[in-house]
Amino acid sequence: MNQPMNDTPTIALLSSVINMDYLLPALRAACPGATLRTQPELGPLQAIDAVVCWEPPHGLIAQMPNLQLVQSLGAGVDHILGDPTLPDVPVCRIVDPDMASGMQAYVVWAVTHQQRHMSAYLASATQRRWDAYPINPPRQHRVGIAGLGTLGLACAQALQAIGYAVRGWSRSAKAELPAGLQYFHGDAQRAEFLAGCDTLVCLLPLTPQTVGVLNAELFAQLPRGAQLINVGRGDHLVEADLLAALASGQLASATLDALSVEPLPPSHPFWDQPNILITPHIATRTQTSVIAQQTLANLAHVRAGRAAEVAIDRQRGY
Ligand code: NDP
Ligand code: OXD
Repeated sequence: MNQPMNDTPTIALLSSVINMDYLLPALRAACPGATLRTQPELGPLQAIDAVVCWEPPHGLIAQMPNLQLVQSLGAGVDHILGDPTLPDVPVCRIVDPDMASGMQAYVVWAVTHQQRHMSAYLASATQRRWDAYPINPPRQHRVGIAGLGTLGLACAQALQAIGYAVRGWSRSAKAELPAGLQYFHGDAQRAEFLAGCDTLVCLLPLTPQTVGVLNAELFAQLPRGAQLINVGRGDHLVEADLLAALASGQLASATLDALSVEPLPPSHPFWDQPNILITPHIATRTQTSVIAQQTLANLAHVRAGRAAEVAIDRQRGY
């Protein structure tokens, strides 16, 4: 449902890496009276009430004195909080059931692709070979989800429904979790969590605490031959450590949807690795109509003096 606005906002679409024009039709449909501005013609910056952004140019938001809302295009906000000049304005992220189900589908695919040897079948098929590989029941395969938030919890439930032995790890303790989910939290329980991950799925937000978390020390705490799925952010991963862990056999394979440099350059060594599967940051997406509706709803909340439900905590970084 469109959110009723008591006046007509001016909304700027900002990115230093993608063309944001694709959002214009949805924003026009959701709020026909809004004034929409795109780079480079942003008009007077003091007129801008809200920005919708993906990697906004550093320093620009700080020049908007009457700004009331910074809205991320996605679930993550690291691309916004990285601006050292960001003013003290509410920052909201997308929380969307379709985004969660899209992530469930991707993660279930990535887990089963690895656990059921699909790369080997695809290779056999190119040679017309009827090769069979071991079929182990999902309950014998332990999948650990690092980051048990909106998306991590949804993925845990989807994997549990198939029968995988799922465990999760988050920063703080949780009161209510799905039955059967083995649960760990905080740095003190991290090693115990990792020791039982035949597949590790990273669904952490990128924060100063999680940057570089997928490194040699962590890989060494996984069972030998574990599989890695990174759908968080590229900067969670220390790339050289992944190559070394694959070369030594400590890790068997990796599926990477988020990379430090996107698009991943054609010369990057990951492309040459038979046991690394790259997808171009497509694990899930939010429809433009949802981004428009959530932007307007969040702006209405802020204007009414209420905290938007999906506002992030600047101190925590997510
Ligand atoms: P949430 O904020 O809902 O959940 C984050 C989870 O990570 C929480 O469980 C949180 O713990 C946990 N966490 C945060 N910091 C730490 C830490 N230092 N140690 C242990 N656990 C920690 O985020 P979402 O589930 O909505 O999204 C997660 C991330 O997924 C996004 O930030 C984004 O980077 C990525 N993403 C990727 C997409 C893709 O297409 N590849 C699409 C969408 C998102 P606690 O519960 O205690 O707060
Ligand atoms: C997001 C993403 O943060 O697409 O939503 O990565």
